[in-house]
Amino acid sequence: FAGTEKTSDLAGKKVIITAGPTREKIDPVRYLTNHSTGKMGYAIAEAARQMGANVVLITGPVALAPPQGVQTVAVESAEDMYRAVLDRYDEADIVIKTAAVADYKPKTVYDHKLKKQIGGQTLELERTKDILLELGKQKKNQLLVGFAAETENVEEYARRKLQKKNADMIVANNVKLEGAGFGTDTNIVTIFKQDGSAVKLPMMPKIEVARYLLEEIAKEIKRDRI
Ligand code: CTP
Ligand code: CA
Repeated sequence: FAGTEKTSDLAGKKVIITAGPTREKIDPVRYLTNHSTGKMGYAIAEAARQMGANVVLITGPVALAPPQGVQTVAVESAEDMYRAVLDRYDEADIVIKTAAVADYKPKTVYDHKLKKQIGGQTLELERTKDILLELGKQKKNQLLVGFAAETENVEEYARRKLQKKNADMIVANNVKLEGAGFGTDTNIVTIFKQDGSAVKLPMMPKIEVARYLLEEIAKEIKRDRI
């Protein structure tokens, strides 16, 4: 073999990874978004590729270079991401939903720039589609992994998301902790699994978090196939 690639339990597996924030348009010059930078999702895409997986990275707008050897699909809104993921869901073995999808979008998208007025302005918002929830409903043999960004009651909220979204794992992080969450190069996560167990990882670089997570996923897939 040339290069550094080694075969593993992810060799040839089709993995969809979502990363970054979504952008929800208000008018031609403004949008709603969040602090996601895409670092965690891009690290998972890179690590999965190194472990021999066939990776599709569906990414919101971020400032990162696309990882080598990965098929990258750029999207903007939650609606775009929903379609990009669902279109590819049937062929996927593993879906990892790292993206920080906006929960709300403006009810009206103006086709002209809103002019400022005297006094305040009210924006009416409506819910976006919950992509992971839909993936959980339509799940066949795919292994489904969600993320949970929390600021309190991390375990309780993560376990609730695991059940509600029919995911196989939820990777939870407390975004208020130093060394975790948005924009950092490290993360502090706990992986909650459907069987009630949890794997708590210490603070480490996001690329290492990615490798641990993918090892857990590989174990899960192996267990399923025995
Ligand atoms: N998610 C999604 N589609 C949405 C919102 C969230 O697919 N419209 C996914 C995220 O990609 C993540 C998981 O659901 O994998 C949990 O996201 P999070 O924002 O932590 O949870 P929510 O269910 O949106 O609940 P809340 O924001 O109220 O905590
Ligand atoms: Ca949310």
